[in-house]
Amino acid sequence: MVLLTLSTASSIISMGVIFIFTFLLFLSGYVLQQQSVRSVQQALKPPPDSSYPLARHGSGSTYRNARRDTSYDQLYHGSSNDRQKGNNGNYAYVQLLSTPDPSNICSAILFFHNLSKNGTAVQDRLFMYPQEWDQPSSSKNKKLSKPVSKAISLLRSASIKYNIWLLPIDMTAATSAGYAPTDTKLLRLGQIQFMQYDSVLYVQTPGLLLDTGKLDDLFLSRPLPQRYDQNRRDSWDNEAWISMPLKAERDNALPPVYLVTVSNVGAGQVEARGHIPNGTLPGFGQLAAGPGAAQPSKDDIYDEDRQPGYVFFEHDRDGHVRWAGNPLYGTWRAGLREVCDGLDLDDDIHDDDL
Ligand SMILES: *[C@@H]1O[C@H](CO)[C@@H](O)[C@H](O)[C@H]1NC(C)=O
Ligand SMILES: *[C@@H]1O[C@H](CO)[C@@H](O)[C@H](O)[C@H]1NC(C)=O
Ligand SMILES: *[C@@H]1O[C@H](CO)[C@@H](O)[C@H](O)[C@H]1NC(C)=O
Repeated sequence: MVLLTLSTASSIISMGVIFIFTFLLFLSGYVLQQQSVRSVQQALKPPPDSSYPLARHGSGSTYRNARRDTSYDQLYHGSSNDRQKGNNGNYAYVQLLSTPDPSNICSAILFFHNLSKNGTAVQDRLFMYPQEWDQPSSSKNKKLSKPVSKAISLLRSASIKYNIWLLPIDMTAATSAGYAPTDTKLLRLGQIQFMQYDSVLYVQTPGLLLDTGKLDDLFLSRPLPQRYDQNRRDSWDNEAWISMPLKAERDNALPPVYLVTVSNVGAGQVEARGHIPNGTLPGFGQLAAGPGAAQPSKDDIYDEDRQPGYVFFEHDRDGHVRWAGNPLYGTWRAGLREVCDGLDLDDDIHDDDL
């Protein structure tokens, strides 16, 4: 029988206590370490929605990337569920500019402002522009003028207010091959971003929205061609939409109203289709039209039903908006002043030949 002295017993106990605490300390350190390893792994994981074309379009606007996480995803997921119901597809309006003109930029802002104010049924609004607008003072580009920079910064604020998706497009593929960066080139290089939509409708800026419901009717009132499907007659024989493929080599100007459908047809192939509205189809061809179709409201023969939903303006040779014979010019100018407060657009517009 071993007799323990008091001092031996107490040193055994204190060794035990030290051992227990050391072990607990080790254990808690281990748990903490595992937690931080997990959170590092979490942070390194790619986001689950990385297959969006918008998300993949890497560089450029931090705006879009910042907003991607919130409203956009909700919109996208919300809207893709009811694709089956008639024309209730996933649609977007797009306006685009290949050259930075302050009054045209403001006209696009006015369009999106009007759309959001008057409750469009079309989910998304897109604005496409050359990526170099985002890098105003790079040595390669001519510096953007002050009114242009101001208009672009107003556009950025508007993109948050009116839910506009800004799509900066890298145009070096066209410019390095010696092509002028035209609207057609911009759309051609950027249209891959439309893949998540059933159809996207381009309407030319400058212009003025008169009636949101009527413009929406371009999407909603008639079957759309959408992607080619030999079992769906409307996709290849459509009374309302006339096929007009983009020919970037030849045309500098886009049709003023242009419906684009970009879809993945499998095997790494992407199909892009373009259509213009059938201008002779009664009640449809005039939903978006030139200023000739707009009637001044004081006119004797004024007929609300015959007013277009969207009126696109024409340019003179210098690229200025032609205001002679345009009954909406004054309203449009007032609208620009409203959305581009503080930007002096007068130099830009008033030196027209009369
Ligand atoms: C815009 O919406 C308002 C309120 O919904 C309506 O009163 C007005 O007529 C609409 N304007 C146009 C031009 O559609
Ligand atoms: C355009 O509409 C008119 C009137 O309905 C129709 O006769 C014509 O065939 C249409 N054009 C095309 C290309 O479908
Ligand atoms: C768009 O804005 C202009 C100018 O403010 C206004 O006259 C026009 O009625 C607006 N259109 C819609 C549909 O709200």
